[in-house]
Amino acid sequence: MRVIGEKLDQLEAIVSRVLQFAKAPSSMHSRWNVAELIGDTLVLIRLKLAQSKIRLEFQPPAQPIHVDVHKGQFQQVLLNLLLNATQAMDQGGSIAVRVGVESHEGGRQVVIDVVDTGRGVPPELAAHIFDSFLSGRADGTGLGLAIAKRILLSHHGDITLHSTGPGGTTMRLRLPLAP
Ligand SMILES: Nc1ncnc2c1ncn2[C@@H]1O[C@H](COP(=O)(O)OP(=O)(O)OP(=O)(O)O)[C@@H](O)[C@H]1O
Ligand SMILES: [Mg+2]
Repeated sequence: MRVIGEKLDQLEAIVSRVLQFAKAPSSMHSRWNVAELIGDTLVLIRLKLAQSKIRLEFQPPAQPIHVDVHKGQFQQVLLNLLLNATQAMDQGGSIAVRVGVESHEGGRQVVIDVVDTGRGVPPELAAHIFDSFLSGRADGTGLGLAIAKRILLSHHGDITLHSTGPGGTTMRLRLPLAP
């Protein structure tokens, strides 16, 4: 058990360094319309969702909302969330992506919710889903949400498990609103 613990710590350190290395300098960020970013990501996965009998719902906000992000990293996060949602809905279901703006101490924030009707995060995992190598799936590596967390934090945002239960799960992303 001690050796396994040490090896896991070493793996965790390696992953941290790889992810640190992969961190995009803010010079690679640019200003994007959130609706466009989300739309461009949904196109990539639309066919897979349809094949899995998952209905996708996304209503672009009435007013344009902008964020300062690395597009590839933002898409990686959203794709991870959509895949997790898909993997939680073996019999099909629906995924809604909702966008809003909220006031916050540090200024205004964009809030993006990814809402699924899947089986929910197993209660014993819920407090640890952002840890590396934690997976509830036999074939999962457990890196999707750990990477998503780092990407959001490096964008001065955050990702949280907003709610989960047998009726479904909502993952919430927050990003600073770009001027
Ligand atoms: N929308 C969701 N509904 C139910 N469970 C979820 C959801 N999102 C995450 N989980 C749970 O959290 C675990 C960790 O997710 P994460 O994306 O970090 O890893 P993974 O999907 O198992 O593997 P990887 O993303 O590396 O292929 C999942 O294995 C699953 O048990
Ligand atoms: Mg995943």
